[in-house]
Amino acid sequence: MIKGQFPLERFKSVRTPFYYYDLELLDRTLDALQAALAPTPEYRVHYAVKANFNPVILSRIAARGLGADCVSGGEVKAALQAGFKASDIVFAGVGKSDEEMILGLEAGIARFNVESEAELRVLNDLALERGKRAPVSFRVNPDIGAHTHAGITTGLAENKFGINYEQLIPVIRTALELPGIEYKGLHFHIGSQILDMSDFVALCNRVNSLTEELRSQGLPVGDLNMGGGLGINYRHPNHLPIADFEGWLGTFRRFLHTEPGQLVHFEPGRSIVAPCGSLISRVLYVKEGTVKRFAIIDGSMTELVRPAMYHAYHRVENISSDGPEILYDVVGPVCESSDVFAREEALSECRRGDFIAIRSAGAYGEAMASQYNCHRLPEALY
Ligand code: LLP
Repeated sequence: MIKGQFPLERFKSVRTPFYYYDLELLDRTLDALQAALAPTPEYRVHYAVKANFNPVILSRIAARGLGADCVSGGEVKAALQAGFKASDIVFAGVGKSDEEMILGLEAGIARFNVESEAELRVLNDLALERGKRAPVSFRVNPDIGAHTHAGITTGLAENKFGINYEQLIPVIRTALELPGIEYKGLHFHIGSQILDMSDFVALCNRVNSLTEELRSQGLPVGDLNMGGGLGINYRHPNHLPIADFEGWLGTFRRFLHTEPGQLVHFEPGRSIVAPCGSLISRVLYVKEGTVKRFAIIDGSMTELVRPAMYHAYHRVENISSDGPEILYDVVGPVCESSDVFAREEALSECRRGDFIAIRSAGAYGEAMASQYNCHRLPEALY
């Protein structure tokens, strides 16, 4: 099998498990994204900070002049520290605290993506107390199911996210009357790791009919934020390392109706950072069970929870050996039977001390690490 290229000599002096980020691949990914954006100056990207808030990664993305999509006051602070301009920061989330809204107001962020009327009224009061007007978009629940894991679809009416379609018009009317609120636009997000472009076509159709309805009622539409969600190829990180930004943005160019000059925002997270990160571990033991052969590694669900949490697939490679392949279950040391990275995966024969790379782990990997079992948080190498 073709494997990724890793600087093994440098790995030898680092304590495992750790994240290794290929910054050159991150740069090429950002080049591809910016090339795909270039033909449509009205299309703007806010990187979804939740996918990876490692300061080195964040500042590299900020240096490209992209905006940031944040979901907490902590993320707003991290984005500002990394060099994102406040005027390029949007702040989403179904449960923003007063403290977080005040932070956004004081910093002068570009947008609050508001998810309920109750939140709108609190934000109005907080803005007025400070002599400000809060720029607001409404997150609309488009009631569209994306073909992805149930745990990461967000656009169905039964999900907690966004304002339901039927309730939107009264909420916009309220916003237009509140003196501390400046109505700016609409926000959508249907889910994550979406590879079937027809899901985005369905979103465009929904948004087109909604904007027509608003216009027919004499209401403003403002700008549109179509969220993130573009998937990557977890099976073939070496052959297909860069997400299909062309295909994704091209779908919106073809199917989303906009007025001249109307801005359209996107919030990709995973597609920007997933491919450049790998979790690097060492083999501790090879255990020959009666029905299985286990490669027990020092990395676990505490560094990368996606396989345990969503049954997500990540390709696993023995990067210390080119020898013949054998099937292994690759497992971590945590006392949970879900602490499994791969089942019956073909790996070059493993020996104690071999480096194991768990690929495409740059998104929702380090960002979701925990200290369960008193593990320390993983370090990063670039
Ligand atoms: N915008 C909003 C409003 C979101 O909720 C999300 C992700 C994004 C943008 C970025 O989506 P992306 O381009 O990364 O798909 N922890 C899960 C994924 C959770 C995604 C949550 N929302 C995982 O590891 O698969």
